Amino acid sequence: MHIFRTASEIRAWSRSCRLNGQRVGLVPTMGALHQGHASLLTQARGECEMVALSIFVNPTQFGPSEDFAKYPRTWEADLEMAAAAGVSAVFAPTPDFYPSGYRTVVTVPGWKSVLEGEIRPDHFDGVTSVVAKLFLSVECDVAVFGQKDAQQALLIRRMVRDLDFGLRLVVAPTVREHDGLALSSRNRYLSSVDRQRALVLSRALAASVAKWRAGEADAQTILAAGRQVLVSDPPDSIDYFTLLDPDSLAILDDAPRLVKPAILVAAARYGSTRLLDNAVLGDVWAQGHLP
Ligand code: PAJ
Repeated sequence: MHIFRTASEIRAWSRSCRLNGQRVGLVPTMGALHQGHASLLTQARGECEMVALSIFVNPTQFGPSEDFAKYPRTWEADLEMAAAAGVSAVFAPTPDFYPSGYRTVVTVPGWKSVLEGEIRPDHFDGVTSVVAKLFLSVECDVAVFGQKDAQQALLIRRMVRDLDFGLRLVVAPTVREHDGLALSSRNRYLSSVDRQRALVLSRALAASVAKWRAGEADAQTILAAGRQVLVSDPPDSIDYFTLLDPDSLAILDDAPRLVKPAILVAAARYGSTRLLDNAVLGDVWAQGHLP
């Protein structure tokens, strides 16, 4: 397994793989790998002969009061998981991935300020910019992201199409604990009591999905089913529990009739830990959905 520290090294590697007729799959991460990340690597391995994993705790996507400094860093364990998943190259750039004087931002205007973006104002500019840099460093055929961060996947999908990155985006399902909690690097910050309470999030989403599966198309009724579960064991605070149009990022709360796939998105806090979860109503990630 190669370990590369600079963009030029991994660019040369990815180019030579492709010249040899091998497809390259890229899985971008911030490390602290868990089974959710492993599933993305497995997916990439299924689609491509060569898999590149990037590990970079990207400072520009953290707000001033967020956990950049204390974000978990588990380098040795990450390498073990990467090797076990059949990764061919790890790209772990040094902080000078951002050269001194760095100013350029890749942004998705409007969309970057919806829901998560409203709560974390510069977050998505940091994400789209670093992912654009990763796509220019690792020249890949396929890039795999998790549905777990659905809004992130939607913005990246828009960016890939708008800027014609010439790669195929794959969005893989959320991996969960046996009891339904979505795996996240931040789950480790939950107390055991809050860890238990947090199950209400996936239960609430499931209640809304069940309503929709039963044939309900009215957004308010679908959301009410989930919100009823959510308030039965309420998180310390709820940032949102709402429905999103994946193609326009419009909030669909008042839609009298859902006529195409939508995403139920939820964010809640337990103490200082924010948890995100979501569920799809229909095949949101089908190719060719965007206009
Ligand atoms: P990170 O939080 O490390 O996540 C890396 C990838 O793993 C993302 O695509 C995320 O959606 C996916 N992921 C996280 N938890 C998952 C789960 N339980 N099941 C399936 N996939 C899961 O997301 C980022 O890093 C960064 O914003 C990044 C895209 C790397 C840019 O810095």
